[in-house]
Formats: sequence, structure tokens, C-alpha cells
Amino acid sequence: MNSNDNVLLTVSWDDSGYVKLIDQTKLPETLEYIVCKNHHDVANAIKNLSIRGAPAIGVAAAMGLALYTINDESTNKQDLFSGLQKAYDILLKTRPTAINLKWGLDKIMEESYKYDTVDDIKKNLVQLVKKMSVDDITINKSMGKFGSNLINDGDVIMTHCNAGSLATVSYGTALGVIRSAKESGKKISVFATETRPVMQGSRLTAFELVYDNIEVSLVPDTAVGHLMMNKMVDKVVVGADRILSSGHVFNKIGTYQVALMANSHTIPFYVAAPLSTFDLKNNLEDIVIEERSADEVLKIAGKWVAPRGVKVFNPAFDVTPPNLITGIITENGVINPPFEKNISAMFEVR
Ligand code: MRU
Repeated sequence: MNSNDNVLLTVSWDDSGYVKLIDQTKLPETLEYIVCKNHHDVANAIKNLSIRGAPAIGVAAAMGLALYTINDESTNKQDLFSGLQKAYDILLKTRPTAINLKWGLDKIMEESYKYDTVDDIKKNLVQLVKKMSVDDITINKSMGKFGSNLINDGDVIMTHCNAGSLATVSYGTALGVIRSAKESGKKISVFATETRPVMQGSRLTAFELVYDNIEVSLVPDTAVGHLMMNKMVDKVVVGADRILSSGHVFNKIGTYQVALMANSHTIPFYVAAPLSTFDLKNNLEDIVIEERSADEVLKIAGKWVAPRGVKVFNPAFDVTPPNLITGIITENGVINPPFEKNISAMFEVR
């Protein structure tokens, strides 16, 4: 998680023909890796949150398809493509809300159509996933630099969920902004919300920031309003799982509440996300908000904290409307309101 060259990679390709992932379900207790030998292993790791965070699952899913390809024994393109399409469907179904998953899978499919032989397809897909993983870090660092300009020396920044190194290949989006601000010499500190029910804030964000020696205090999700009312927060920076052309941001459940409270206390609320998180095709009503298992709410670390038989509703994401957002930090610069116009301008110049 350090931002030097000796980085821990959340997900990486190994030339022996496997994908290595940090098992995030084991953090913060132990740093363990999962070795994925085929696309089913990757799909399972995404489904059970061993790997999570929009950019990380995008790269992992792409690597899952590359694994399928190198393991496939077809001698002709048609047979390879028919298997590849099935692997694509399996990986796409793992989690519905983060668009980066589909982005990663589509990049692999597009690349595979460019080559005539099975060998060329295999070789080039492996090259592509390695490039995607290097690009992810470059993009996060660029986003970090743009975001860092918005942070003042002495700022106290609140973040929600984990949009850090562990949610990307490395460095992070929202936490990339925080890392970059610190690297530029600014003294900053962070409030990380616990982020019930899966505790990405305490298990992952606090872990990363402590590991990187960035001052962090963990707060219950329910403390956000109190902190803001008492002027203890200067800025909020969060990540995103999907951003629509209207500027609506899908992110971890609870983000909307944080944004509403920030707005009510006139605290700037920033979203940091790569361009691969933008979905310019779909509308609000087209997007599926993942509902996860009741057990995530009923139990903490396997121990029951609610009565048996109680009903549970456990949506994993919510939507923050554009009027609550101060700016969207991307690798190409900061998008300011009005978002509809400025998001479209950002994509036109690409
Ligand atoms: O359910 P998760 O842990 O995958 O949710 C992750 C988030 O909501 C992150 O904030 C988002 O993916 C941005 S990550 C850079």
C-alpha cells in the first residue's frame, strides 16, 4: 500500500498463468493471497468480496477472461470465442453495480476481435491485462495530483468505505488524493467511517492509512452529522462505482447520507473516479443496486447481533444526486458543475 515502488498489489498477473489477489476478507488480521487459476476462481473471489472496489474488480475480471483464454484448448477462433463469451457472462454476473467490471470485460472482448489466430489472441490478451494493471496505477496517481490541488494544508478529510489501494490495483482513487496531498507536503488527517455492514472503512481504509503512516481516526457511521456540525471536517472525498452522464454517483451505501450532511454544513463533497467509472449510456432507472446477504447485517464477525427471524434489507450502494457534489476528480482533471454539460465535454475531448 506504500506509494513507493515496493508496492503491494491488490491484484496481479503472474506469467506462470495465474492471478494473485489480496484476500480482503482476511484483513486487517492477516495479509493473505488467493491464487486464481481460472475464471471461476476469479468470479468467486469477486462474489465473496475477497476482491472488491470498482477499479480492482474491473482489472480482476479482465484477468479472469485472460485466464480463460490461456487455459482454453480450442484450435480455432470460433470455438475460443464461444467459450470466452460464456466466461464473460459468468464474470459479468458477479456484481451488478460497478460499471468498471463491464468496462474491464469489454476491453478484453474488443482486443480479442483484433487478431486472427488463437495464439495471437492469447499473447495479446495477456499483454493487455498487464498494461491495464500498470495504467490503473498511473491513472490513480494523475487523479491524486488533480485532487491534491483541492486540499489545503491542515485539512481534515472524511472518506467513506474504501476507495484506496485495496479498491484499485494500487494507490487508490479517494485515498490516492489523500496520499498525493500528503506527498506534496501538506499536513492532513482523515476521518474514516466504519462503513457498516461490511466494514470496509475499519477493516480496509484504516488498515491502509495506518500502514502508510497517514493520520486517521475511525468513526462510527452514525457520528458523521455530529462531526460536521462541530466543524471537525473540512472536506469529504469518496470513490464511485458508477457515474451517469447526469452526474449521479453510485457508491457504497451511506454515501448519500454523508453527502446530504456535508451539503447541509457547506462542506465540499468530492468524488474521485477514473473515466472508466462513467456510464454515459444508461439512465438512473436502468441501474441495478446490488442487494447482499442478510447475514452481513445480522452478524458481526460471525456472531449474531440481531434476533433470529428478523427481516433484513441490505442494499450495497446508493445514489448521490449531482446537486450535492462539489466536483468529480478524474485522471484528466476535475469536473465542476454543471455536470451534465461538463461530463459530456470531458468525453468529447478524449
Ligand atoms: O462493495 P464494495 O466494497 O466493492 O464497494 C466499494 C465502494 O463502494 C467504493 O467506494 C467504490 O468501489 C470506489 S473504489 C475506488
